[in-house]
Amino acid sequence: MKRIGLLTSGGDSPGMNAAIRAIVRRGSDINTEILGIRRGFNGLIDGDVVPLDNRDVGGIIERGGTILRSARATNFLTASGQENAIATVVKEKIDGLIVIGGDGSLRGARRMHEYGVATIGIPASIDNDISGTTISIGVDTALNTAVDALNKIRDTAYSHERVFVVEMMGRRSGYIALMSGLAGGAEIILIPEVKVSFDEVYALIDRGYQLGKRHSIIAVAEGFCSEGSSGRLISEFLREKTDLEIRLTILGHLQRGGSPTAFDRILASRFGAMAIELLVQGISGKMIVLTQGEITAIPLEEIDHTVTNVDLALYRLAYSIAS
Ligand code: F6P
Repeated sequence: MKRIGLLTSGGDSPGMNAAIRAIVRRGSDINTEILGIRRGFNGLIDGDVVPLDNRDVGGIIERGGTILRSARATNFLTASGQENAIATVVKEKIDGLIVIGGDGSLRGARRMHEYGVATIGIPASIDNDISGTTISIGVDTALNTAVDALNKIRDTAYSHERVFVVEMMGRRSGYIALMSGLAGGAEIILIPEVKVSFDEVYALIDRGYQLGKRHSIIAVAEGFCSEGSSGRLISEFLREKTDLEIRLTILGHLQRGGSPTAFDRILASRFGAMAIELLVQGISGKMIVLTQGEITAIPLEEIDHTVTNVDLALYRLAYSIAS
C-alpha cells in the first residue's frame, strides 16, 4: 500500500476541503493510505502528520477553508527548511506528495519533485493567477461573493447617489475585480494588468454623470496601485477632485471564506481524484489543470509565474457596456 502525503498551502480557498475528501476516498479505492500534513509546508518541516480515513473527511465538502489548515511557510524557502521537509518524507515513509495551493505553493511542489519526491500539484487560489489552467479551486466561489457584495453596494450607491470604490483581492491579478465588475455592472474596473491614471478615472466618472448616471461603482483590484492601498488612494484622489460623495469598501478576506459553489466542489473533486490516480501510476512533477473543458495535467515547470488569467477582451467588453 502506498503512503501519500497531502497538504494545503498558501491562502486558503473554498473547495480545498472537497479536494481533500476526493483524494482520501479515491485513494482508499485504489489501495492508498493518505497522510494529512497540517499547516502547509510548516507541517512537512515539523513532522505534523495525521492519517486520514474516509470518515475523517465526512461532512466537509460544503465547508470553506481547509481542515488541514494552511500557512505561508517562509521556512520552506531556506535550505534547512527543505532538508527538514525531506527528513519528514523519509521518516513517515511517504511515497508521494499532493500539494494543494496557489502560485508559491506550486513552486514548493516543484522543489519537492526536484528533490526526488513524487509530487503532484493542484491549483487552488481565489486569485485565478495560475497559468496553464483556465480556473483554480476557489475562484468561482470568491467571484460569486464579490458579485453579491457589488449587488448590495449598488442598492445603497443608487439610493444616496454616491460613488463607491470597492477593493477586491488580487495582488498581481485583477481577475476577481474584472469578472465581478463585469457581472456586477461596475462603471469602472481597475486591474494591475492595465495601467489607467487617476485623472482618467475621474474623466470616466464625469462622463457617466454627463450621460445621466447618478451613482458609480469602481471595482478595483488591490494590486492596481503598486504602492499603498489601491482603494484608499483612489478614494482620496476623488474626494479632492470632486464634490461627489465617495465611499470605500474593502472586501478583503471575506472573499476567501464561505461554502464552495457547486462548480468549485465538482472541480475540486475532479482535480483531487486525478491527482491521486496519477501519483499511484508513478507520475510526478505535474499540476492538474482544466483546459478546453478537459481535466488533464501539465509539467510543474510549465507554469508561467509572470502571467495571469485576465482576458483583456472581457475588460474591453465591460467598459463598452458600462454606460
Ligand atoms: O493569494 C490569495 C490572496 O487572497 C491575495 O489576493 C491576497 O493579496 C493575499 O492572498 C492575502 O494574503 P494573506 O491572507 O496572507 O494576508
